[in-house]
Amino acid sequence: MDERRYKIRECRKEDLGEVIAINRRCLPENYTSIFFEEMREKYPDLFYVAEVDGKIVGYVMCREEAAGLDLPRLRARRRGHIISIAVLPEYRRRGIGRSLLTKALESMRMRNLEECILEVRVSNTAAINLYRKLGFETVSQIPFYYMDGEHAYLMRAKLTG
Ligand SMILES: CC(C)(COP(=O)(O)OP(=O)(O)OC[C@H]1O[C@@H](n2cnc3c(N)ncnc32)[C@H](O)[C@@H]1OP(=O)(O)O)[C@@H](O)C(=O)NCCC(=O)NCCS
Repeated sequence: MDERRYKIRECRKEDLGEVIAINRRCLPENYTSIFFEEMREKYPDLFYVAEVDGKIVGYVMCREEAAGLDLPRLRARRRGHIISIAVLPEYRRRGIGRSLLTKALESMRMRNLEECILEVRVSNTAAINLYRKLGFETVSQIPFYYMDGEHAYLMRAKLTG
C-alpha cells in the first residue's frame, strides 16, 4: 500500500486517546480529555481525524460560536473557530493538514456559518502558510496570547458570499 495514503473521517470516541497524544506531542496548548470529549459530542461534524493504516496521524477540532448581532437584520451571527489542528511530524508535508482543514471548512459551510476564525503563534510559519492557502487573512495581533508570552495573529476566512 502507498504509505502516503490517508483517510479523513469524523473523530470517534475511541480515537480520542490517540488524538490527545498527538496534541501533547505537537503543541504546547493542551486541553483536558473532558474538553476533547465535549467538543466531539457537541460538534461531531467539526472534529476530523486523518488515518493511515488504522493509525490516527492528525486531527482538527473546531466549534461553533456566536459572533455578535447582525444589524439591521437582527439575527445572531455564527462563526466557526479552529481550536486545534496537528499532524504528527513524520506525516507532515503530504497534504494532510490541508485536507483536515478543508473538511472542517466544508462542514462549517454546511452549517451556514458566516466565517471561520483562529489564533496562531506569530512564529508558526508552517501553520500561517497553510491558513493563507485556504483563504485566511490576518485580522489583528493579540499581544501575549500564549502562556509563554508569544503574540498571536487572529486570522479569519469568510465562508459566505
Ligand atoms: C501546521 C500543520 C498542521 C500542517 O500540517 P501538514 O500536514 O504538514 O500540512 P500540509 O502538508 O497540508 O501543507 C499545506 C501547506 O501548508 C504550508 N506548510 C506546511 N508545512 C510547512 C512548513 N514546514 N514550512 C512552510 N510552509 C508549510 C505549505 O504552504 C503547504 O503547502 P505545500 O506543501 O504545497 O508547500 C503541521 O505543521 C503541524 O501539525 N504543526 C504543529 C502543530 C501546529 O502548529 N498547529 C497549528 C496551531 S495554530
